[in-house]
Amino acid sequence: MRSRTTTPPGSPDASVEDSRAAVKPEAGWTFALHADDLWEGEMVGVVCGGTDVLVARLDAEVRAYENRCPHAGSRLSDGFLEAAKLTCSAHRWEFDLQTGAGINPVRCRLRRFPVKIIDGDILIQL
Ligand code: FES
Repeated sequence: MRSRTTTPPGSPDASVEDSRAAVKPEAGWTFALHADDLWEGEMVGVVCGGTDVLVARLDAEVRAYENRCPHAGSRLSDGFLEAAKLTCSAHRWEFDLQTGAGINPVRCRLRRFPVKIIDGDILIQL
């Protein structure tokens, strides 16, 4: 989990309010990470509201899935991402991160969570 830097009282910037801290949390949406911390073609695992979530940015769109392989439960964020194809590190099952559909085998699917970005924060609906 990330921590925020705060300005000590009495310093020149103490009266400037952090605009991110001023954002009111929305019901049902949980902060995952800052959008600037997720580059194009990158994926990361974050624990979000007690749920392990895989967050990826592909074609400028952020997607979130349960960070658990449907085969035997390995963390998908420990796998390998090549274009939109995620390969699980445990037994090499493959998934399309554009859709969450299984590539090999095709009969499986990742659980997807809704995502929105507000003021540079990636929020997940768990
Ligand atoms: S746990 Fe992912 S392929 Fe087996």
